Amino acid sequence: SRQHAFYGKGGQAGVTTTPQRHVMYMTFDMTSQNPRDLQILLARWSAAIAQMMAGEIIGQVEPVRNSGIGMDTGEALDLGPASLTVTVGLGPGIFTETYGLADKKPALMRELVQLPSDNLQSAFTGGDLSLQACADDPQVAYHAIRNLARIAKDTGAAATRWSVLGFGRASAGKNQSTPRNLFGFKDGTRNLTEPTDFKKFVWINDGGPAWQQQGTYQVVRKIKMHIENWDTDRVSDQNAVFGRHKVSGAPLSGEKEFDTPDFHQKDSEGAPVIPVTSHISLAAHENNQGIRILRRSYNYTDGINKLGMLDAGLLFISYQKDPASFEALQTRLGAADALNEYISHIGSGIFFVPPAPPEGDYIGSQLF
Ligand code: HEM
Repeated sequence: SRQHAFYGKGGQAGVTTTPQRHVMYMTFDMTSQNPRDLQILLARWSAAIAQMMAGEIIGQVEPVRNSGIGMDTGEALDLGPASLTVTVGLGPGIFTETYGLADKKPALMRELVQLPSDNLQSAFTGGDLSLQACADDPQVAYHAIRNLARIAKDTGAAATRWSVLGFGRASAGKNQSTPRNLFGFKDGTRNLTEPTDFKKFVWINDGGPAWQQQGTYQVVRKIKMHIENWDTDRVSDQNAVFGRHKVSGAPLSGEKEFDTPDFHQKDSEGAPVIPVTSHISLAAHENNQGIRILRRSYNYTDGINKLGMLDAGLLFISYQKDPASFEALQTRLGAADALNEYISHIGSGIFFVPPAPPEGDYIGSQLF
């Protein structure tokens, strides 16, 4: 199976990497106030991630000494790298006096502002550290997070906070066909795919501190989708909600998926063919001073709720060089999006994603 490099000169893997089929996402709270523990955790995580991305075990599964406890839990044996990437993020709580890192805080790092659509629950919100493990085999992604959580516990540095297991990527990379979200619509049609766009909108290259260059900000939102309500809606109305045709993915102003939406086209009564309250009209860069973000979302399910209703949605993950880009888009969407009737933002997080370390180094080493 395919293998991605952990070490390198640019940004971490798992950001602009062609989206794999599955994600296991987890955030952690620091449980130690000692900067050394944080440093050791980042170093051990980095070494383990490099091994797992190469399809290797992170230590003996069956220790030579029979009484020994296994280092690697073993469930990914023989599954290969499966395109695994693990992307490490540092939350606002890391850049504080506690760890002597207040003056290292990246310029745009802060908690997200409160947004009109927020219905956030602390059980799915925040975290001092984030891990996004993506792979074409869900067991490989799960194994990675499980073993990294084990290391966190073992070092005494951090404890698990919240997590989402996602499937069916809801974004496409270059030369990938566009997948669908749980509302049945193609998701990821107008996403960033070109290196020139990644440079312009994703990777930090502001001439600031060297360790932040080729870093980026990760915004994550756990968005519940009211599937049963949606399923009772007429498809013509569903099309108006997104501004696109359900089956083809074409904008309502066009015929093919990749036709550029024409937000000025009017129908016979003079109304915009793509409604002004549609999701794409509100989110498109043409209507947002050119703002663009890289979306890297996955569908998720938490089974059924207490009322027996399907509990599912979108693990929305975006990467941008300025978190204000996400806020600007979500402020507009939260105020007017026709989609709001069918979704609820229940979780949130923001993390700085440092660049990939060079061979033999570890993520964030320049902080210490
Ligand atoms: C486009 C679904 C949340 C930003 C789209 C499209 C779909 C979709 C079907 C059209 C296809 C495409 O171009 O990818 C959803 C669903 C969401 C959600 C189901 C929540 C459950 C968000 C959020 C943001 C966002 C939270 C950012 C704040 C965008 C952008 C586009 C887009 C920028 C491209 C618009 C364009 O340029 O035409 N989304 N989305 N979406 N969405 Fe969302």
